[in-house]
Amino acid sequence: MEERTAIDDDKPAYASRHITPHPRNVHAARRRELLGQRPSTVWLTGLSGAGKSTIAFALESRLLELGQLATVLDGDGLRQGINADLGFSGSDREENVRRTAEIAALFNDAGIIAIVALISPTRAGREVARGIVGADRFLEVHVSTELAICERRDPKGLYQKVRAGLIANFTGISADYESPVAPALSLDTAEASAEDCVARLVEMLLPQFDRGVENAEVSLPAG
Ligand code: ADX
Repeated sequence: MEERTAIDDDKPAYASRHITPHPRNVHAARRRELLGQRPSTVWLTGLSGAGKSTIAFALESRLLELGQLATVLDGDGLRQGINADLGFSGSDREENVRRTAEIAALFNDAGIIAIVALISPTRAGREVARGIVGADRFLEVHVSTELAICERRDPKGLYQKVRAGLIANFTGISADYESPVAPALSLDTAEASAEDCVARLVEMLLPQFDRGVENAEVSLPAG
């Protein structure tokens, strides 16, 4: 009888069970030396309109200025490509989170800092992401801007559509959002500017940099 693994048991019936991954060469240390950084995944979670994408792209720019190789995985962007087949049911959101975590893990394996901006509304889903990325590389950041402010901003006009009954299962209104219990960092964009949020994230990431920041001015917010 064919040997089965725990992973095989989780596979859908149509998935092949005849898969043998090639043993990997372990080049993590070489990549770290080459890039001068330890890769991690900064996982920004929060409501739509909380400021996740703004912070993510601003952080990416800042890290590149500091000589750190980083890239953004943004929910809306991924949903136009690799996640284009997914909607907003509970199971589709779970799959959205799972796939994004797998991509972040691949970037980390390649030595690159991944900045994820995804509502990722459930604690369980984010724990799955932590497991996929690896707890030592996963930094959960709560963009905690409250619903009333997100709705007032309504940058994409979505809250207005929700209130008009045009969008179902909308996070924070007709679908739950579970705040992180012990995030590495909480950022409220109603109180802090994007620049201040980025400075706090850079401060959090500083221990991960092996080089590249000596000559760059790292400005931190007061207090
Ligand atoms: S997640 O819940 O599966 O993590 P994701 O971050 O990928 O969500 O996508 C959220 C974005 O999709 C929002 O910023 C918004 O632009 C759009 N969106 C469309 N429909 C919904 C909905 N029902 N709930 C939340 N966001 C939605």
